[in-house]
Amino acid sequence: MMAKTTSRGIHRIGVLTGGGDCPGLNAVIRAVTKSAIMNYGLEVYGIEDGFLGLVQNRIHPLTTSNVSNILAAGGTILGSSNKCDPIQYVTGMDDDGKPITRDVTDRCIDHIHHHKLDAIVVIGGDGTMSGAANFVKHGVNCIGVPKTIDNDLEGTEITFGFSTAVHVASNALDRVHTTAASHHRAMVVEVMGRNAGWIALHAGMASGADLILIPEIPFDWEIVCQFVAHRARHGKRFSLLCVSEGAMPEGGSQTVDKIDPTSPDPIKLGGVGKYIADEIAKRSGIETRTTVLGHVQRGGTPVAADRILGTQFGYHAVELLMAGAQSRLVVMQGNEIKDVDILSAADKQRCVSPNHPLVEAARAVGTCFGDIPPIHTR
Ligand code: F6P
Repeated sequence: MMAKTTSRGIHRIGVLTGGGDCPGLNAVIRAVTKSAIMNYGLEVYGIEDGFLGLVQNRIHPLTTSNVSNILAAGGTILGSSNKCDPIQYVTGMDDDGKPITRDVTDRCIDHIHHHKLDAIVVIGGDGTMSGAANFVKHGVNCIGVPKTIDNDLEGTEITFGFSTAVHVASNALDRVHTTAASHHRAMVVEVMGRNAGWIALHAGMASGADLILIPEIPFDWEIVCQFVAHRARHGKRFSLLCVSEGAMPEGGSQTVDKIDPTSPDPIKLGGVGKYIADEIAKRSGIETRTTVLGHVQRGGTPVAADRILGTQFGYHAVELLMAGAQSRLVVMQGNEIKDVDILSAADKQRCVSPNHPLVEAARAVGTCFGDIPPIHTR
């Protein structure tokens, strides 16, 4: 194919994937690489393990054959890291177990210059965009592509990876539903999402969960337990609960699994599902079990929607660069691909509004969010 006109100054670009892995990453890498090479005759360099590859100078050329046959593959062929922030690069631990850090941004910039990268396509979530913002401030042109199963990146209505996570979670809820019904139990499925309840809200609705508990709507213990008991008294001898890992009781706090001091995102949530299950069993006497989906939601084959979205996002990142754009984030708004200032997405989380239309719709069909009893049970 005849190469399209090259934007002045863009000849070679880098691409990296930062943060946790996510279904659809390879679709973006493929789209960036293929469209840059095939349409504009650019050279594309892959940066390994996110910003860590920039620090350690692990940067190598990518060809169209390197990205062939990866569309349906989970993970990222470039590798990723959710522990490397070049501004606070961890070089060791002190005697109190606290990380010793130093700013290695200059070293990264030397490597960018050494490889003659004119711009970098940065694929990641809010933490990765915050890392990109640092390079933007140092004069590096970064184009962001919004990734995360949590769907919590500011500026975009959807991130790639979210649809797969919802699909996996909904599938799990459907399976657990039959066990709940057969054994007359309450079954709790804990899903990921950090401080945003998008996965729980969507998967819970898709699978008809009786209770959906999300961080944005703190729950009342009495209401949760009474709702499960009310169902049991009225012939529904089981209850299905979809609980976001960030869910918390009114006046309480989130359940933390562990703190990783070496990570820019040190608080690892987890365990609220079991906490809720134990409390339901104690207060209502109903047998209750918990399933924690964890990283199953993030790994493996992306659903078709994420492959398509990843391809659109990757293609648009290259188009933006070639149109002369500087430091933009590709986003989806009103079902159209647009772009916003990459700095506007750094370190911000887009959470579910308690009045979100999906919450209203779920309430209308009798779903309990743990804050008020559904109308038919009052
Ligand atoms: O941001 C994606 C995510 O999977 C969150 O939903 C979850 O809280 C977190 O990452 C888990 O991080 P890690 O892979 O470091 O355990």
